[in-house]
Amino acid sequence: MEKLAILDCGGQYTKVIDRKVRELGVYSDIFPMGVSADKLQGYNAIILSGGPASVWASGAPAYDDRIFDLGIPMLGICYGMQLINEHFGGEVLPSVKTEYGPVDVDIIAPCPLTDGMDKRQTVLMSHGDAVKKQADGFVTFAVTGDIAAGIYNAEKRIIGVQFHPEVDLSEHGTEMIENFLRKVCALKETYALEDRIETSIRMIREKVGDKKVIVLVSGGVDSAVTAALLVKALPPENVYAIHIDHGMMRKNESDIICRNLKKLGLVHMKRVNAANEFFNGTVDDGNGRIIGPLSRTTDPEKKRQIIGSMFIKVTAKAAEELGIDFDNTYLAQGTLRPDLIESGNPDVSGYANKIKTHHNDVDIVRRARERGMIVETNWDWHKDEVRQVARMLGLGEEIASRQPFPGPGLAVRLLCNDSVVAVTTAQREQLTDLINTLGGGNFTGRVAPIRSVGVQGDNRSYKNLVLLCGKGMDTDFGEAFAFAKEIPNRLSYINRVALRLDSDAPSDTLHDSPMHVCYETAELLREADAIVTKELMNPKIAQCFAVLIPLTQDMDKRYSIVIRAVVTGDYMTARAAVPGEHFSIDALKNAVTKIKAALGDQIDMVLYDITGKPPATIEWE
Ligand code: XMP
Repeated sequence: MEKLAILDCGGQYTKVIDRKVRELGVYSDIFPMGVSADKLQGYNAIILSGGPASVWASGAPAYDDRIFDLGIPMLGICYGMQLINEHFGGEVLPSVKTEYGPVDVDIIAPCPLTDGMDKRQTVLMSHGDAVKKQADGFVTFAVTGDIAAGIYNAEKRIIGVQFHPEVDLSEHGTEMIENFLRKVCALKETYALEDRIETSIRMIREKVGDKKVIVLVSGGVDSAVTAALLVKALPPENVYAIHIDHGMMRKNESDIICRNLKKLGLVHMKRVNAANEFFNGTVDDGNGRIIGPLSRTTDPEKKRQIIGSMFIKVTAKAAEELGIDFDNTYLAQGTLRPDLIESGNPDVSGYANKIKTHHNDVDIVRRARERGMIVETNWDWHKDEVRQVARMLGLGEEIASRQPFPGPGLAVRLLCNDSVVAVTTAQREQLTDLINTLGGGNFTGRVAPIRSVGVQGDNRSYKNLVLLCGKGMDTDFGEAFAFAKEIPNRLSYINRVALRLDSDAPSDTLHDSPMHVCYETAELLREADAIVTKELMNPKIAQCFAVLIPLTQDMDKRYSIVIRAVVTGDYMTARAAVPGEHFSIDALKNAVTKIKAALGDQIDMVLYDITGKPPATIEWE
C-alpha cells in the first residue's frame, strides 16, 4: 500500500495533518522528527509538521539530514518549511512582523500545490520566524506582503508553506493537501478509514475484560460517547457512571446532564455534589505535592492541576461509597486527541509545547495511565469525529451537537487575579501609536493589566488584553475585527482584544481588583453565562459563553463580563463569531441589556472578545 510519513516537529496540528491525509485515501504514519532516514525507505511522501521551536535556536529538534536525500517528495509546513529552507542553505530569522491568525496570501508563481486556485487565498498563519533568504534552487510561489509564504523546488519535488493547509481556517487547505498527494506524489486513494465504533469496542473489551469501570460523565458529547461505548462493549452492570457537580457548572447543567444520561442505558449512575471540596479542599497532585485550595489560587495552570486532581480524589470517595475498590477499577474518560496535544502529553508528541493542561491529563491521571488503568475510547478523535460517532450511536442531537463545556467548568472563565501585572508607559504609548496609525480614527484602547492564555506559533502565551472602545453597539464590527487582528501581530505582549459593547466612552482609567474562584464569583458568572447562551447560541456557533474579569472603569464596581462566541470545527483553531453574520445584532444588544439590567450593580463593562485562535485560545485560561 502507498503510504505517507508525517514527521512531527511538535506542532499543535500534526494529528490534523494525519487525519486529512487519511480522509483523502492515503495511509499515513506519524514519526518523531528525529526518526532515522532508513525507517522512511518505502514511504511515497513526507510531510514535515509545524512546531514551537526555531530552526536557528540551539534547542531545535535534531533530525537525520539524510531524509532530504531520499528523493521522496516532501511538503514542509510552517516550522517544516523553515527547516527545508535552512537545510538547503537559505536563512530563517525572527520576523519583524509576526502573523497569528487568518491572512490573505498572494500566489505569484506556479506550484502544483495551488494549481487551478485563485491568486489570493485566505490561510491560517501562526509564526514568529520567517524565511529571510530563500534557499538556492527554490522559487517563492506565495507571499504575504514581503514575507515568503510558499517555496518550491520542482526538480526535488519539495514544497514549503509558511501557513497551515491542514486546518479549517485555510480556505482551500484540503485541496492543497490533495494537490500535494495527487499532483506532486502521484498517490491514489488506496486506504479506507477504519470503522471507529468497531475499533473502539474491540479496544475496550481487550483492555477491561470482565473488570469494573468507572466513567466520569461531565455531560458533554465526549464523555457521553465514552459511556455509550462502554455500555455497548461491556456488561452494563460493570459500568459505573459518576457525574460530579464541582460548583462550576452552568446554570441547571447538572440536572440536564443527569436527565440526558438516563437515556444511555446506564445501570449505575451516581451524582456527587462536591462544590465545597473543589473550592476549599487541598489535594495530592500525583507527585506527592499538596496543592490548593482553588479559592486562593490565581495561576491558570495551578487551577487546572487542582481541579483535575480533585476530580480523581472525589471519584475515589464516590467509588468507596459504591463499594468499589477504586485502585483496581478502570477509570474511563472522554479524552480527545486535542486535549492531549494541548496538554503537551509526551506520549502524543515529544516536541509539543504545553498550551494548557486539560483536566483529563493532569499528573495524577498520567500516573494512572502509566499503570494502564485509564480507558480512553475517543483518544484518537477530534470533536467532529466524536459528534459523528454520537449520531451513529443514536445519542440524539441534544447530546451530539451540544456545545463543549470544559472539565474545569466556569473556573477557566473566572479570570483570577492578584494584581501583579503592571502595564508600562511604553506599552501604553505603543498601543496609542498603533491606534493612531491603523485605527482609522474610530477607536480608543488601553492595555489592560490582566492576562489570558493564548497559542502563538505552536507555543503557549500568557499575555495582556487590549480593551478596545469604538461606538459601542454601533461599532463597525468588520473594521474592529480587521484592526484587532493587527494588534497581537505588532505588540508582542498582547494575545487578545476585547471590544466594549455597552458604551462608547473611551476607557481612560482601568482598575483591576483581586479575584478568585468562590461561590460568589461562580454564581455571578453563572447568571451572566445563562443570559449570553440564551440570547446568542445557535447552530452557526460552535461555542458561546461569558467570562468574568476583574477589570472596571467604574471604581465602585469590581467586575466586567466578556462575551465569547466562536466558529470552529476542529477546536484547534477558531474564529471569533461575527455579530450580524453568526448571530443578529439585536440578539447581542439584548444580551448586553439583560446583563446590565440583572447584574448592573456588580458588573461595569460588557465586552466582546474579537480574537481568533491563534493568537488567543477559546477559553481565557
Ligand atoms: P482552548 O481554550 O484550548 O479550548 O482553545 C479548546 C476546546 O477545549 C475545551 N477545553 C477543555 N475541555 N477539559 C475539557 O474537557 C479541559 O480542561 C479543557 N480546557 C479547554 C474548550 O472549551 C474548547 O472547546
